[in-house]
Amino acid sequence: HHVEYLNYEVLDDHGWELSDDDLFEKAAGAYLDEDDYGELLVEDNQSLLEAAEGDGHAWPFACRGGACTNCAVAVVEGEMPTPTNHILPQEMLDRGIRLSCISSPVSDELKVVFNVKYLPGVNELLL
Ligand code: FES
Repeated sequence: HHVEYLNYEVLDDHGWELSDDDLFEKAAGAYLDEDDYGELLVEDNQSLLEAAEGDGHAWPFACRGGACTNCAVAVVEGEMPTPTNHILPQEMLDRGIRLSCISSPVSDELKVVFNVKYLPGVNELLL
């Protein structure tokens, strides 16, 4: 599964919004550091967090078990279901928020904004 990732922290610097339709096009043209924007491959049943770490990235996490929201990401395109046992309310799931420690992409292509733990609504769940 091919994943394109973008760091939530750089959105503010550029005046971008998570809801921008062309967010990833803008990111691709912005000469961002590879820590903030790039691509990686995730094996079947490998968690997104593990794949990112395997690729040399230090994405935020704490519990690694779906019990905090430090590892939260926002899925912008593609499918990444999440197991039932986790802390996220349905409303967050509806907005595309997932926990990267327990979630694996199922679509061939996925676009995610990682590091969304400070997103309003997610930050209240942080432990
Ligand atoms: Fe705690 Fe993923 S690291 S939910």
